[in-house]
Amino acid sequence: MDTQPPIKIDGLINELKALAQISEAEPPVVTRVVFSEADLRARAYVKSLCAHAGLAVHEDAIGNTFARWPGTDPGLAPVGTGSHIDAIPNAGLYDGCVGVLGGLEAIRALQRIGFEPRRSIELVIFTAEEPTRFGLGCLGSRMMGSVLTPQQALALRDKEGRGLDELRAQAGFAGALESVALPAGRFHQFIELHIEQGPLLEQEGIDLGLVTSIAAPASLRVVIEGEGGHAGGKLMPGRKDALTAAAELILALEAAAKSSGAIDTVATVGVCEVFPGAVNSIPSRVRLETDIRDTDGVRRDSVLDALRSACHDVAGRRGVAITTELVNADPPTTCDTAILSAMEEAAMEAGRTYRKMVSRAYHDSLFMARVAPVAMLFIPCRGGVSHRPDEYAAPEWIESGVQVLARTLARLAS
Ligand code: GLV
Ligand code: MN
Ligand code: MN
Repeated sequence: MDTQPPIKIDGLINELKALAQISEAEPPVVTRVVFSEADLRARAYVKSLCAHAGLAVHEDAIGNTFARWPGTDPGLAPVGTGSHIDAIPNAGLYDGCVGVLGGLEAIRALQRIGFEPRRSIELVIFTAEEPTRFGLGCLGSRMMGSVLTPQQALALRDKEGRGLDELRAQAGFAGALESVALPAGRFHQFIELHIEQGPLLEQEGIDLGLVTSIAAPASLRVVIEGEGGHAGGKLMPGRKDALTAAAELILALEAAAKSSGAIDTVATVGVCEVFPGAVNSIPSRVRLETDIRDTDGVRRDSVLDALRSACHDVAGRRGVAITTELVNADPPTTCDTAILSAMEEAAMEAGRTYRKMVSRAYHDSLFMARVAPVAMLFIPCRGGVSHRPDEYAAPEWIESGVQVLARTLARLAS
């Protein structure tokens, strides 16, 4: 590309900051759970920016949003880019939002130089990449990729027992859930810009990560039923404390991940719900939500198996009842070599340094890969910090990512 797409980085940073103000928590803390009032306001803000850029916006039955810049050949499948704007509790302002607003800025920069794409370029804002409400990540892209069926989606419940149908209707989304699945060929290719959520790019002083594969995430929900009672009156022998049983399971999971033989195996228990949750009452029930990931699906599964066998062992020894439910166990994804080559050429052309890397976090691209060739472009984030309010990406890092995204989109859409 002869003309440099002019990225208006100050404007983009202002938009990211404005989006971060739309939060369920006190800014600068960002919390935006899907279908919350903040999520709906954030969607409205992003849609207004898309409309202002002349993009044609439409939404599907669960609120996945598509903003299209029409190409000169409308018969060709579009090139997609995008990410998510929902945010976990106590999050920062870059996760997902850089890919959405950065994708929009890439389109606007191409518009500014008078570029005419042959294929349409479509910005996608996925519904509920984060698992906060339903305990399952990537709801929108999972349904687009037909990995989650409408029947399975209808069975999802949030903490208050509300289902997808009730919540999407309340949010103003209607239509058959069957229509969310994308037919193969709906997108020609898909590319997602994202912060690394790890430390490597910053540590190595490299501008960009070209993602070659996305790690395999899994989640096992564990419910432990013990016996409650008075914390003073009930003596230690014979107790069936659900929380001490849970503690053993948490440590067993950590040990299994640490001893897998690979640094790529990670396991976390991010939710531990204790019932009745009173200081002077023995916990009678505990629910754990576990998150287990690896770049190698077989190794990931062996950690899942170790957790299941710890459940069996602890239940036997402590006399508690333990049930498990596999929420998801997704295979890893390999990124498309043609998109990677286009990104590599674009990075060289823009004079940016890059390295190939794996994504340890999951992303909507994992599921878009079911219906289109995908790849991801990472930018550094300070200290590798993410899923925290102090998440930070410097404007020049974002500028690099958007510049190379714009050039890649131009290549793919020509
Ligand atoms: C996405 O937010 C993830 O947990 O990887
Ligand atoms: Mn996230
Ligand atoms: Mn994300």
